[in-house]
Amino acid sequence: MADSIRFDGKVVVVTGAGNGLGRTYAHDLAARGAKVVVNDLGGSTDGQGGDQAAASRVVAEIVAAGGEAAASFDSVATQAGGASIIQTALDTWGRVDAVIANAGILRDRSFSKLSQEEMDIILDVHLRGTMFTVQPAFNWMRENGGGNIVVTASPSGLFGAFGQANYCAAKLGIVGMMRVMSIEGAKAGIKVNALAPTAATRLTATAGMSGQATEPKTPEEDPMSTGRVSPLVLALAHQSCPASGEIFSAGCGWISRAVIAVNEGVVLDDFTPEGVAAQWSAIRDTSALTVPTDATNYWHMIQSRTGATG
Ligand code: NAI
Repeated sequence: MADSIRFDGKVVVVTGAGNGLGRTYAHDLAARGAKVVVNDLGGSTDGQGGDQAAASRVVAEIVAAGGEAAASFDSVATQAGGASIIQTALDTWGRVDAVIANAGILRDRSFSKLSQEEMDIILDVHLRGTMFTVQPAFNWMRENGGGNIVVTASPSGLFGAFGQANYCAAKLGIVGMMRVMSIEGAKAGIKVNALAPTAATRLTATAGMSGQATEPKTPEEDPMSTGRVSPLVLALAHQSCPASGEIFSAGCGWISRAVIAVNEGVVLDDFTPEGVAAQWSAIRDTSALTVPTDATNYWHMIQSRTGATG
């Protein structure tokens, strides 16, 4: 199939692009004509240290393959760092058409032992880091005809995972932030979606899943290849993307949409805990689900089910 999803003349920022998923996104975007800001702090998987080698190597690889890329070594975890990452795009190429907020680390600990430091660093890198990086790009896009933003959630954040209370809180927080960015950016032509990826990287190796760190395998060679996630990310980062405010998961080539939905539930006429207890099975039944588009839409559902006004 000829490449119809092209990024010629477009500038795309990928955070955490020195390794793993972000590195593959950067390569695949550049191969389709994008000018790519390759951001990476170059630290360890638990967020320690920093090394310019990670981003520099990916820039060199892209340039060697005939593409265009600029390195950024800032941390997403500070407001100044996020601003500087987006400024790299504006200073180098004068625009920013898409941002893929992908940088991430892990500090797994069971909830009962989770320390404030372990909570803070994960919230800083993932949740605040997404805000710090996306906000300056969002504001530029608002004045300049829109753009595409992809933020990175996680199956753990959506569904829960042992030992990842900090990470799951940050990742589902990102989903909430994404929904609001989508609502507030719609009029300006900004589309924002969340990705929940699954692929073998140094991060999943840390988490004890099968995973290798350094040299990515092709999608044909390895079902866990980052190259089986990247096609969805490019489709989301492209102006032709039809979706905004949605959550997509991708792993091993399975692409699906994850939703936050309400079931049929019940309308109480006995306003007591016993009235609830008598109907647990209907309240918990997930056989028929509806996906509210936003909180206002949900309020309209309440009104139509109960006759409430307000
Ligand atoms: P990775 O460790 O291979 O790549 C993450 C990159 O982010 C690293 O190069 C790291 O240096 C960079 N980074 C970390 N903190 C940074 C900071 N403060 N500023 C700038 N760069 C920073 O990991 P992977 O697996 O590629 O992860 C990418 C994203 O996907 C993360 O947000 C992760 O949480 C998410 N994810 C990955 C899954 C997987 O199966 N690989 C599963 C679910 C989510």
